[in-house]
Amino acid sequence: MDELDRIKELALKDLENLRDLSVLEAKRIQHLGRSSALSQFLRSLKDRTEDERRAFGQIANRLRAELEERYTASRDALMDSAEEMASRLDVTAPGRQVRRGHLHPLTRASEDINAIFAAMGFRIVEGPEVETDFTNFVALNFPPDHPARSMQDTFWLKGMEQLMRTHTSPMQIRFMQAHQPPLRIVVPGRVYRNEATDATHEFQFHQVEGLMVARKGEHAPSLANLKGVMEYFFRRYFDDPELHVRFNASYFPFVEPGVEVYIKGTKGKLAGRWLEVAGAGMVHQNVFENVGYARGEMQGFAFGACAERLVMLKHSIDDIRLFHGGDLRFISQF
Ligand code: PHE
Repeated sequence: MDELDRIKELALKDLENLRDLSVLEAKRIQHLGRSSALSQFLRSLKDRTEDERRAFGQIANRLRAELEERYTASRDALMDSAEEMASRLDVTAPGRQVRRGHLHPLTRASEDINAIFAAMGFRIVEGPEVETDFTNFVALNFPPDHPARSMQDTFWLKGMEQLMRTHTSPMQIRFMQAHQPPLRIVVPGRVYRNEATDATHEFQFHQVEGLMVARKGEHAPSLANLKGVMEYFFRRYFDDPELHVRFNASYFPFVEPGVEVYIKGTKGKLAGRWLEVAGAGMVHQNVFENVGYARGEMQGFAFGACAERLVMLKHSIDDIRLFHGGDLRFISQF
């Protein structure tokens, strides 16, 4: 009787927590098959007395029947849940689509712009967005209280000693303070202006600054070279070999002469009309002096353009606020 109890206990214990039909089948063979303890027990009865054979045979057979029933019930339950799962799982159904991300249009533009200037030998450098009054204004020939400062109202920090840079031009100062000409750099980056937003104005946007300087002489960068660089750049950026560049006289304290760069192309928004796309000019001798170069020894040009404006012209976008509006319907078009 002890042995039968043990056989029953083991066989029932193996049914607990069964999840897998093939494991269930292995267990069934182990506990009910030909070489199971129960079968061996039944076989051994032939050596017993007639009474023992009858008594134990009946109990053992009842146990076998009970175990078989339990195993069959477990099997049915497992099959039901497998079938149910199969009915829910359609292996032929198309998978859930994984959306591929992509770069923000401004990031792409910045990469394109950098690549074009890099091909012309310009080094790409970046500078801090929190600037000092000296690098953002004073060294660029905006004296304190100069009216030209009102062109670029900004966000002041710490009692008007630090500010969010209003343009990328302070990197002209930082780079020249640390390097001697000849030099040729392009500075992409975010800038800030304290102004109300509308379709063409944001309080933060991106600029691309350029600076090329050499010792005065035959190969020093000239206004004509500036025009050539602008023309090459804009033709490449807008993919328009027929695009033309025009300079209009303008004023920025850190260049003399100063110009506004206009382009006229053949495609989209650029077709057939002159559009202002950058400020530029020959670096003012005061600026050279402010970074420690001897007055009159160096010559070079600088330019600055708004990246958003270039992207807007290229892709016919008419509201600058779309770039940071967080509307995926806009972003996902690029
Ligand atoms: N920094 C000027 C601006 O933000 C643009 C500029 C750059 C003009 C370099 C001349 C030379 O308006």
